[in-house]
Amino acid sequence: MKSLIIYGSQYGTTKRYAETFSQMSGIPAVSYQTIPSLTGCELIFHFGGLYAGHVKGLPSTLKSCSPDTRLVIVTVGLADTSEEKNTNAIKKAVLRQLPKSFPSHVDIFHLRGGIDYSKLKMTHKVMMTLLYHKAKALPDEQKTGEIQAMIETFNQKVDFTDYHTLKPLFNLLPEPQELSPIFQGGQ
Ligand SMILES: Cc1cc2nc3c(=O)[nH]c(=O)nc-3n(C[C@H](O)[C@H](O)[C@H](O)COP(=O)(O)O)c2cc1C
Repeated sequence: MKSLIIYGSQYGTTKRYAETFSQMSGIPAVSYQTIPSLTGCELIFHFGGLYAGHVKGLPSTLKSCSPDTRLVIVTVGLADTSEEKNTNAIKKAVLRQLPKSFPSHVDIFHLRGGIDYSKLKMTHKVMMTLLYHKAKALPDEQKTGEIQAMIETFNQKVDFTDYHTLKPLFNLLPEPQELSPIFQGGQ
């Protein structure tokens, strides 16, 4: 089965997840900016960093997909993905980004990335500062997991990357894969 990994990454965490999954699965990985022809491609993994709830690069992947392609969307964000209420909220936002006409074979997974404020470009720094002040003023019951994670990590360098969390993606591969030792004993 012809498969491809496409990633949308601004600061590298999503790219590292995609490339690790590529090495482990043998499926090639490309940036959403250089998607080749997807003719005959039956399975696509789109790894995208979350930016204001949007999955980076997803519109390009959706444009290139044929209706028969099985699409797996993997988000990378700051919220704690071990909490179901967080992943449910992200999933809902991702589903809103799919055109109504999009066929139903879409699976959605969530991974946790990181942020280094000293490396952010100016527009992102300004945006996060504005969002932080707005978020802090919200009543607690309106603070979602994403908002809470943003408040807790503001102005810091944090890295929640955990390659063990890629493990469930291997269940979607057409041929059984021999798991790398890094997964043994992992989640
Ligand atoms: C401007 C900006 C907006 C962001 N918006 C979200 C968001 O809506 N939800 C979330 O969970 N994380 C958000 N993040 C955090 C990123 O998703 C996280 O840093 C991710 O690891 C980035 O992936 P990348 O390093 O591949 O670009 C945002 C970060 C920035 C700089």
